[in-house]
Amino acid sequence: MRMRFLGNTGLKVSELSLGAVPASALVRMAVDAGVNFFDTADMYSQGLAEEMLGKVLGPRRSEFIIATKVWGRMGPGPNDVGLSRHHIMRACEASLKRLRTDYIDLYQAHSLDPPTRLEDTLRAFDDLVRQGKVRYIGCSNFTGWQLMKALAISDKYGWERFVTLQAYYSLVGRDLEHELVPLCLDQGLGILPWSPLADGFLTGKYRPGQPSPKGARRSTPEGRNLPIDEERGFEIVEELDRIANDHDATVAQAALNYLLRKPGVTSVIIGARTAEQLAENLKTADWEMTPDEVSRLDVISQPHKVYPYWFLEKISHDR
Ligand SMILES: NC(=O)c1ccc[n+]([C@@H]2O[C@H](COP(=O)([O-])OP(=O)(O)OC[C@H]3O[C@@H](n4cnc5c(N)ncnc54)[C@H](OP(=O)(O)O)[C@@H]3O)[C@@H](O)[C@H]2O)c1
Repeated sequence: MRMRFLGNTGLKVSELSLGAVPASALVRMAVDAGVNFFDTADMYSQGLAEEMLGKVLGPRRSEFIIATKVWGRMGPGPNDVGLSRHHIMRACEASLKRLRTDYIDLYQAHSLDPPTRLEDTLRAFDDLVRQGKVRYIGCSNFTGWQLMKALAISDKYGWERFVTLQAYYSLVGRDLEHELVPLCLDQGLGILPWSPLADGFLTGKYRPGQPSPKGARRSTPEGRNLPIDEERGFEIVEELDRIANDHDATVAQAALNYLLRKPGVTSVIIGARTAEQLAENLKTADWEMTPDEVSRLDVISQPHKVYPYWFLEKISHDR
């Protein structure tokens, strides 16, 4: 398993990281395959995901890089949610306990929290780093201007700045490339794509005109969380089929492999429901898609350009 720097931190993490999974056996499989980076959140299964990870990794804690998140609702109280100093401090203590550790490697704001001033959130995160409870901070699901504002606030006060952005990024969801990818490249943040297989759509198990596979996430209305243009998506799956065939690989591996070749990406967070899926996804690290194959996929999955990007492209020939 290849290692990559986490943004500009000097810390090395495996290019495939494991997201919250339903069983400890899957965590052990990932460890055996060389994964050293695990992503979870306090709100995943209301703390059970952190507890399981802490139990499995606990005895060898120092060998692994553990990322978790704060923001989600963790109780019925009015302050059991969000990014206020109050909630962050309590949530961090609770995560440390569940993870059976005295430090979190990467503590992430799970989402923006509009009612809280960014200054309060960032100052609380900075305190946690100074107290030694957190090593690095990151964010997830921020817009471009919010993320840039947060970085500017950190710089202004000399506080810790976000080193990573965890965001939805897949071959059927490349919106990130408008604003957030250039920002991360400019500011030295590492990108951690979530739902890289678009809830399983990019595995080839959904085909036009065929019934959805039983028990799969996207076979239920609640599992269809992502906005996917399926007509276009099926063309992308066909191209992935061709590329995968040429490498004796699978559609899922090709979809993950594509993201590993994209600028700014540090580690792709893989999810799996079964050991078979995880074994398949981990093998993505065994081969590399060629630049020509990446370009073919780039072209057919090109996101619609929003203003002012189409305008700037139009006038760029003059400079
Ligand atoms: N920051 C955030 O807001 C946020 C949001 C979402 C996720 N995340 C993180 O990202 C991680 C990954 O997200 P995700 O689980 O949505 O990723 P995903 O790769 O888009 O979807 C994973 C699902 O696809 C199916 N699948 C995966 N590999 C497969 C294979 N080889 N063959 C067939 N089906 C396969 C499985 O579901 P079925 O078998 O049911 O189809 C699996 O549970 C999460 O665990 C979490 O850590 C973060």
